[in-house]
Amino acid sequence: MKNKKLELLFPTQIWRARLKFDRAFRKDLIRECQAFRELDDHGKKWSAKHYLAGYTSYSSIANLHERSSSFLLLKTAIDREVKMYADSLEFDLKSHRGRTLRMSAFWINIMGRFAHHSFHLHPLSAISGTYYLAVPAKSPGLKFEDPRIAAFMGSPPRKTAATRNNQQYVEIRCDEGEVLLFESWLKHEVRANADGRERISVSFNYDWA
Ligand code: NI
Repeated sequence: MKNKKLELLFPTQIWRARLKFDRAFRKDLIRECQAFRELDDHGKKWSAKHYLAGYTSYSSIANLHERSSSFLLLKTAIDREVKMYADSLEFDLKSHRGRTLRMSAFWINIMGRFAHHSFHLHPLSAISGTYYLAVPAKSPGLKFEDPRIAAFMGSPPRKTAATRNNQQYVEIRCDEGEVLLFESWLKHEVRANADGRERISVSFNYDWA
């Protein structure tokens, strides 16, 4: 392309990384998640109302790192990824004295067959993400929506086979042991779990406060 140039402005950055923890450690985390569920009556009740066919500790146990040394270890590894992601986004975190980017919530998601979590964002936070513990074959990934979508008025639809960069919805399906980070304003959903086995993950928010 001589005399022509295509610039990609305002990209949406998603951070994906494999953490150092092995299968045995992840199995322990899964067992801990199941144990928390077992004891969490409030969370189970809340989930029956708001998280059909699944269990989330979002409303009841959202400080895993303060309750378990293995989750504290996991948090330390996630902190490092968040730092690298913030560097990639070129956040200016230093010129506002007293504010830090720190984890504000850390909770469990266990999705049984047909459990889903429709489009939402995490409006009070800066960075959000998920670490994957059990990803059965037919379970979905995390589906993101183009944040500019409300502004697309006379804009033609994209080709079905358009490159990922030009799609309006992109689903990223992580493997067990991977973490996914995104900015909290980015809308996302988890489609229904088509697998009979449980999809298990832990999610977190980082606030700039
Ligand atoms: Ni979410």
